[in-house]
Amino acid sequence: MSSNSEILAQIIKNRRSVFTDSYIEKEIPREVIEQILESANYAPTHKLTQPWRFTVIRKTAKIKLGEELATLYKNTVAPEKFLQKKYDSLVLKTQKADCILALNVQYHPDKLPAWEELASMACAVQNMALTAESLNVGAYWSSPGMIEHLGEFLELKENEKCYGLFYMGYHNEQPREANRTPIAEKVTWMEG
Ligand SMILES: Cc1cc2nc3c(=O)[nH]c(=O)nc-3n(C[C@H](O)[C@H](O)[C@H](O)COP(=O)(O)O)c2cc1C
Repeated sequence: MSSNSEILAQIIKNRRSVFTDSYIEKEIPREVIEQILESANYAPTHKLTQPWRFTVIRKTAKIKLGEELATLYKNTVAPEKFLQKKYDSLVLKTQKADCILALNVQYHPDKLPAWEELASMACAVQNMALTAESLNVGAYWSSPGMIEHLGEFLELKENEKCYGLFYMGYHNEQPREANRTPIAEKVTWMEG
């Protein structure tokens, strides 16, 4: 039997960003999405501000999001740089994902600097990514420039900001190794 640390290490190492090309047509049960969201709520949070906010986007709303992203792309890219392929892919990706979470931060400027809230939200996203991995749900964090302009679509409040879209879907991707240089190259030990 594997120890807790072995199981955890395996989930951490096996987690990969799984993109929409590998998603299959299979609905993620609501309870599974709720389980993934629940894990976000256990992220560390300075002064307990719990700044992570999520918008669960599915079904018709997901189609509307695809249209919104494509329109935002068209309206914000310089006309000579517009690519029809990119425009179409924005619509296609939202179609292929079963569920998309908007990753939003709620700021508390009276309590904390913005970076601490963003760091906390990123911890929450990692919790979700690991839980998704453990449930064989593919997922990845997408951060297209258009998210700057999604506030109205998401009906965000003044102290909230969207930092990405978390695409999710069951998938047929083969396990692949992480592409990383050794940790030893990124660590300095001070012991003296
Ligand atoms: C904050 C953040 C934003 C990201 N944005 C994108 C993105 O816009 N498009 C994309 O293809 N991948 C995006 N990714 C996923 C990375 O491409 C991915 O994590 C990286 O390639 C390493 O692969 P792995 O997650 O499988 O280990 C993002 C990841 C993070 C943490």
